[in-house]
Amino acid sequence: MPITPNSAAARDLKNLLHPVTNLALHKEKGPLIMERGKGIYVYDESGKEYIEALSGLWCVALGFSENELIEAAVEQMRKLPSYHGFSGRATPPMIDLAEKLIEFVPFDVSRAFFVNSGSEANDTQVKLMWQYFSAIGKPEKKKIISRERAYHGSTAVAASLTGLTPFQQDFHLPLDGFLHTDCPNYYRNAEPGESEEEYSTRLADSLSKMIEREGADTIAAFIAEPAMGAGGVLLPPATYFEKIQKILKDNDILFIADEVICGFARTGNMFGCETFGIEPDTVSVAKQLSSAYLPIAAVLLPEYMYDVLVEQSKKIGLFGHGMTYGGHPVPAAVALKTLEIYEKRDILGHVRKVSKRFGERITQLADHPLIGNTRSVGLLGGLEMMADKESRRPFDASHGVGARCIAACEDEGLVLRPLGDTLGLCPPLIITEEEIDELFDRLTRALDVTEAAVRKEDLRAA
Ligand SMILES: Cc1ncc(COP(=O)(O)O)c(C=O)c1O
Repeated sequence: MPITPNSAAARDLKNLLHPVTNLALHKEKGPLIMERGKGIYVYDESGKEYIEALSGLWCVALGFSENELIEAAVEQMRKLPSYHGFSGRATPPMIDLAEKLIEFVPFDVSRAFFVNSGSEANDTQVKLMWQYFSAIGKPEKKKIISRERAYHGSTAVAASLTGLTPFQQDFHLPLDGFLHTDCPNYYRNAEPGESEEEYSTRLADSLSKMIEREGADTIAAFIAEPAMGAGGVLLPPATYFEKIQKILKDNDILFIADEVICGFARTGNMFGCETFGIEPDTVSVAKQLSSAYLPIAAVLLPEYMYDVLVEQSKKIGLFGHGMTYGGHPVPAAVALKTLEIYEKRDILGHVRKVSKRFGERITQLADHPLIGNTRSVGLLGGLEMMADKESRRPFDASHGVGARCIAACEDEGLVLRPLGDTLGLCPPLIITEEEIDELFDRLTRALDVTEAAVRKEDLRAA
């Protein structure tokens, strides 16, 4: 759409500061303004249709027109449109959701603490670790180990956990005490001839050395996404989590699972931890918890940790952590309805069925001249672009091949996000096999257009 004076695009450019956006590029290009949605599709202000191949930001599990969620919100709005959980106050949706969540998850947890976003959930995780270890007489046990290329959010603490440069550079981050161990990227970082198991052993050894260097008695927890999302849709290599967990257990370091993307059927099990054999101590959930119709997230923790916090309250007078909107009754009612829908419509069974087609279509793209590596689990996939597939040489970043491909996708009616050299795919869980075919047909056409431009402009030149 041309940017005319007083158009929505012009007013965007005049008034907004966009999150996670190349602001200089945005000034030139202007916004893509979505006006409505239906099923897996969104429609821009000109009425053009797009398949939302990333479910917004990995979150709109039930698509963009789920009436039961809308009704749940309206009903709660009419009853009690706002209330909080401070000073022991509660609302029925907050209590119902906590009970349902605890019942729903396969983890050894017994308490839910509600917040508004994945970042707040992971911030809360760190504060819980700090207070817990202080309370049990180990206040020096406070460092947190995350991984390079991890994404855990963008508040000051969550961005310290994140391992991606733009979220830290010139923000004075990471804060002290946040360490980053290796990113498990077998395709890019394995030595020639190294098996996945050998590569996992090498990464586990590296973690061991980090713990030894820092001192296990200074480290509280390790945080990981079961499958890494924003870092490039990276799946753990064989035996990786098995080896990592053994080291953590041996060193009395707790495991925080960030299920913000993987949670709720995304990877073909209800939780990513089940898919990859993780037994976490605490868990963060968000996004698909409410199909992202309203913001809500949660930290799930075990009873022994809760008991310690109760004792701390006796000493300090208060559990001094919480947000005004944490457990707000309207998003809580929507989240409760979302969990009900997952169960009654067997969304997990559906994901298991259609993900076969999704996996097949992703794998077929390995033959495309632009694609060096394909990976998928459940309805989560990544396509890594390479200038030279043979030598695994990426494109020179200044050529902006990823951005060109995303633009070609938009022309074809497909919304994706570039994650470094990788195109991330994470469609709504309700997608059908026919819609998966349509998605990949559009994507293939966009890849062909991009490949033609790469050849014409000789963008493979080293
Ligand atoms: C794995 C993971 N953790 C945490 C977050 C942060 O969530 P939010 O954007 O809701 O703060 C994200 C967001 O994409 C995420 O992918």
